[in-house]
Amino acid sequence: MFMAQMHKWWQTGVVYQIYPRSFMDSNGDGVGDLAGITQRLGYLEWLGIDAVWLSPVYPSPMADFGYDIANYTDIDPLFGTLNDFDALLHEAHRRNIKLIVDFVPNHTSDEHDWFVESRSSRESSKRDWYIWRDPAADGGPPNNWTSFFGGSAWQFDEGSGQYYLHMFDVKQPDLNWRNPEVRAAMYDVLRFWLDRGVDGFRVDVIWMMIKDAQFRDNPNRPGWKPGDPPYARQEGRYTENQPEVHDVIKEMRSLVDRYDERVFIGEIYLPVPQLMHYYGHSLDEVHLPFNFQFIELATWSASTIRACVDMYEKALPEGAWPNWVLGNHDRSRIASRIGKEQARIAHMLLLTLRGTPTWYYGDELGMQDAVVPPEMMHDPQGKDNPQHSRDPQRSPMQWNSQPGAGFTQPGVTSWLPLSQDYQHVNVQVEQDDEHSYLTLVKKLLSLRQSIPALTTGSYTSLDGVPDDCFVYIREQEGKRYLVALNCSGQEQQLHLDHARQGNVVLSTFLDRNDQVELTNFVLRANEGCLIEIDD
Ligand code: NOJ
Repeated sequence: MFMAQMHKWWQTGVVYQIYPRSFMDSNGDGVGDLAGITQRLGYLEWLGIDAVWLSPVYPSPMADFGYDIANYTDIDPLFGTLNDFDALLHEAHRRNIKLIVDFVPNHTSDEHDWFVESRSSRESSKRDWYIWRDPAADGGPPNNWTSFFGGSAWQFDEGSGQYYLHMFDVKQPDLNWRNPEVRAAMYDVLRFWLDRGVDGFRVDVIWMMIKDAQFRDNPNRPGWKPGDPPYARQEGRYTENQPEVHDVIKEMRSLVDRYDERVFIGEIYLPVPQLMHYYGHSLDEVHLPFNFQFIELATWSASTIRACVDMYEKALPEGAWPNWVLGNHDRSRIASRIGKEQARIAHMLLLTLRGTPTWYYGDELGMQDAVVPPEMMHDPQGKDNPQHSRDPQRSPMQWNSQPGAGFTQPGVTSWLPLSQDYQHVNVQVEQDDEHSYLTLVKKLLSLRQSIPALTTGSYTSLDGVPDDCFVYIREQEGKRYLVALNCSGQEQQLHLDHARQGNVVLSTFLDRNDQVELTNFVLRANEGCLIEIDD
């Protein structure tokens, strides 16, 4: 009890990401909206999540589906109004659910007033709010930087005869964070949402906000070839993870800290040792630098999973709080990456590890990437190669078996096609099935809430187990829980000498609560068990 009180809500809670276009369409236009999310909060409360992270809902030409913002302090009519936002926030808080919003500081839309002004002439008062450079001697782009979505990161502007930088789509010009006026304007944005009562921010590409002052060329990655993911083409040596970015993050954090109990999360794709710097020397940067190791794992196996958990636990600075992410709107869904059987194991892992878990809407149903025919694709990342489109993982939430899947009205065409499996993979069907994916996730969430060892207890991984098993102990105040995950499709025999007996509190198959001899214990193929150890 004492321990739990010392922890913040964002340490003991779990975060559920909503991609607003795809969660719930309340007005029958085929696109999800804020009122739809408010209607479905009862489900999230029933499920037992603690916080929602909402991808952007601000006015946007939707070149990158909301990550191209034309006004930081309003709501796009497609999603509703500021009143709808307030209603969502109020209702979420009434149900004890926190609301984390997306903050996108690296770039605006080219239709933002700031950019329209900046582009109007070289003498514009906002010229230096963005990153403008003269052409190279041959008239081409100022350097070799490439955009995450493919092609040069520089776009020539005929009117003013210079290039502007866009690390993403041509409609997403990068802001110049070296300019104090930009910082001041963006800090006003943070205050706007904090004053409105949001519980924190997930900050988009926070590690990319500052670029090299000398605009040096990035090294190309050897072996990259057309058809490979465009974002993997170069090393971001001069466009990412620049030392000066830490000062900006500290300024943001100190602003956020002026408000009570808010969380500050950074989207950062970096190897663990570099990632750790984003906690800050005095833990004064982000509370949680998103830990994408599970998303990035090349091979899903007991040894790779254990290696990444142990390495991360070891690397954490003193006092820093861990976090784990299973999926997001940018990467293939977990059930597609590792298969549905292992995805159950992945959820047991996520919800029994030390650290704040985040998962992506629909993953709790075992939703897989939808099949999206190339002619129905929208995502700018797929423009050169549909294989890299992020549309498949953004298909509408599957609520029931009716036409429209309960996401939209029957007869309405949703903005992305529904996954073909929606008639049996959906909330309604799975709520009634005691062995479903959803039932497993709900049970895991309620165990996590009721067993302090699972949130705030210590973590120790065990040697001497079969190669295909990852086994660890969570322990707090004398209470010990063993998590045994079989990451293979074969039965595994475990002989643990830590204790003699234990009680299976939960199997990923949801079919046993037996007492087991830990010295001789069998995990079925693809089975994970949470076991309370008898002392
Ligand atoms: C990261 C976001 O998660 C992604 O969806 C977006 O395209 C880029 N940042 C640009 O904002």
